[in-house]
Amino acid sequence: MLDLLITNAALPDGRSGMSIAAQNGKITEVTQGPIAGAQATETVDAGGYLLSPHFVDPHFHMDATLSYGLPRVNESGTLLEGIALWGELKPMLKAEAIIERALSYCDWAVAKGLLAIRSHVDTSDASLLAVDALLEVKKQVAPYIDLQLVAFPQDGVLRSKGGMDNLKRALDKGVDVVGGIPHYERTMAEGAASVKLLCEIAAERGLLCDMHCDESDDPLSRHIETLAFETQRLGLQGRVNGSHCTSMHSMDNYYVSKLLPLIAESGVSVIANPLINITLQGRHDTYPKRRGMTRVPELMAAGVNVAFGHDCVMDPWYGMGSGDMLEVAHMGLHVAQMTSQKGIRQCFDAVTVNAAQVMHLQGYGLEVGCDASFVLLQARDTVEAIRLRANRLKVWRKGRLLAEMAEVVSTLTLVNRPAKTAFFKVS
Ligand code: FE2
Repeated sequence: MLDLLITNAALPDGRSGMSIAAQNGKITEVTQGPIAGAQATETVDAGGYLLSPHFVDPHFHMDATLSYGLPRVNESGTLLEGIALWGELKPMLKAEAIIERALSYCDWAVAKGLLAIRSHVDTSDASLLAVDALLEVKKQVAPYIDLQLVAFPQDGVLRSKGGMDNLKRALDKGVDVVGGIPHYERTMAEGAASVKLLCEIAAERGLLCDMHCDESDDPLSRHIETLAFETQRLGLQGRVNGSHCTSMHSMDNYYVSKLLPLIAESGVSVIANPLINITLQGRHDTYPKRRGMTRVPELMAAGVNVAFGHDCVMDPWYGMGSGDMLEVAHMGLHVAQMTSQKGIRQCFDAVTVNAAQVMHLQGYGLEVGCDASFVLLQARDTVEAIRLRANRLKVWRKGRLLAEMAEVVSTLTLVNRPAKTAFFKVS
């Protein structure tokens, strides 16, 4: 007797009529058509809808989430006022409140089929209050969300007093990944020095590394080049990520033609945050205004692993959002003009498999032996899923049902259309 059997599912790779069996939290069979003689404790007819591995957010700030309006709203809506506002809020933060807001967000995430999150946590405050709070959250949500934490020196690891010591202490406490923010250091040289030092820490400790890198419109901000170089020098290929990299949007095209192969060669992955990049970048422009997102299709074409992150939900930087990675993918494909069928599917990958690769998630996917952790979407394929930001009908983690909602009858979906969309009478 199986634990879980899902029949008649479409998969992200385009296969349809698929059966997926799970036992002890793992996928045991993936077959076209019915599995002969299979019986399970829970059997679900997917009705032709899309079964995907769960969503993954590789870039988030859980210590700030749901703090919108505290102590005031970001009037200008700019990145710099957001950082200043976060500075005002920090002395008022209480661990209990951070934990409560983070746990609320994790509930939202589960309902949206988002079961793995990489969150940066600000290490600038010597008390490491937010670090302790998110380590506690990580423990509490472990049965339903893989939460990976990045030691993030928001005020600059060299620019702020005690920055390096605080970051190292956060890692000692169990924070998983080394972070950084080179473009916020005092000079370009200091930024490059911070990249070198932080990559060395990652190498020494055997950790992954993920830096906010060149999050500006400055065409000469080139820390991604240093990050790629240090990654190769220290043998960290496949373990390092550059987040945002928005300056690449504004760089000289000749220089980018040299840079892209360097990034690919170093095995550095890149995370764009479409919702945030499109709202925070290009703010000094009149018209034409730059989009401010990194060069996603060009990076992908060069062989770089590119993922999309949510970055912020209702915090000092961004008052919108709901933990919906399909909304992130939707914005990403618009900003990057990835409207070809291939481009849309690549945007779906950016919030699933590519993001899982950034996080080094084990057991992710729909192959036999992977975790039975997936989401059933009210859409027949990945293109429709993004178009509709489709309902999450069921969410499982390791074979256990975590969330479900009733199918909403809609003229917007094409699955089962003749029977269920009798809104228009044609005589
Ligand atoms: Fe960020």
